[in-house]
Amino acid sequence: MEHLLRLQDLTSDELTGILNLADQLKYEKKHNIPHEHLKGQTLGMIFTKSSTRTRVSFEVGMYQLGGSALFLSNNDIQLGRGEPIKDTARVLSRMVDGIMIRTFAQQDVEDLAKYGSIPIINGLTDYCHPCQVLADLMTIREHKKSLKGLKFAFIGDGNNMANSIIAGGILTGMKVAIGCPDDYRPDAQLCEWAKQNGELQVTSDIYAAAADADVIYTDVWASMGQESEREKRNKDFAGYQINSDLMKVTNNAMVLHCLPAHRGEEITEEVFEAHANEIFDEAENRLHAQKAVMVKLMKK
Ligand code: CP
Ligand code: NVA
Repeated sequence: MEHLLRLQDLTSDELTGILNLADQLKYEKKHNIPHEHLKGQTLGMIFTKSSTRTRVSFEVGMYQLGGSALFLSNNDIQLGRGEPIKDTARVLSRMVDGIMIRTFAQQDVEDLAKYGSIPIINGLTDYCHPCQVLADLMTIREHKKSLKGLKFAFIGDGNNMANSIIAGGILTGMKVAIGCPDDYRPDAQLCEWAKQNGELQVTSDIYAAAADADVIYTDVWASMGQESEREKRNKDFAGYQINSDLMKVTNNAMVLHCLPAHRGEEITEEVFEAHANEIFDEAENRLHAQKAVMVKLMKK
């Protein structure tokens, strides 16, 4: 494993290896066992979108691993003024030991990896959010003991989260179901890959998607960068909500949300608060999962 660009680039064993290491690092943190695997190393963190969890988990994670992290906002570095990605990649490769990037185009992340010579970590693009799903899988494993054979249902927009859930779910032997409006389906090529490698159901019927689900997940109707579509999306996604009626058809499912959540839209306050322990375990696990990714990719 050289980079983390998309989950479907990993083998099942590589993905499970990250989850195992994340569990170990969580244990070590809890018991104050030193784990400074990246002593003296620096992570550059490029952000062209907002972030709470991703920024804090990588920055704190790097510190706990004995290294340091640089927050590079798009507004502050020359990338935001038009310096090409391929030049940014070559400059940063000579100064830092790894780069985490959150941006719009998946191609920019792929280009950083192509032109740079250090590990690149995708901290969210419009296409996918692999780091989040590593934390999600870790959380499901903690609560359900194993992943294989479980049904993982996602309700809402076939967006970056849906794409990474499909890839991560299939690689760990879960049955994945996406309940989304027909005009908001996940990436077609990825769906083909998923059907060849496991079980994927994509339907506009959220009750069919949620039926017997062991895990149910949702995300905002309008992602970062889609703010101007908000009004249309509110109409198109009306009904695509995790609420107590939908929960009844699940197999007593655990509820996950990548956060931030919009209560009253994709999830009700009632369901969110009833499952807050799972959702905030998931948020905490961003820290442990991101540390595992950095150790796997950057440890010399
Ligand atoms: N879930 C997630 O990636 O959160 P942030 O946008 O706060 O990083
Ligand atoms: N789909 C959301 C995920 C945020 C973590 C977004 O891209 O804004």
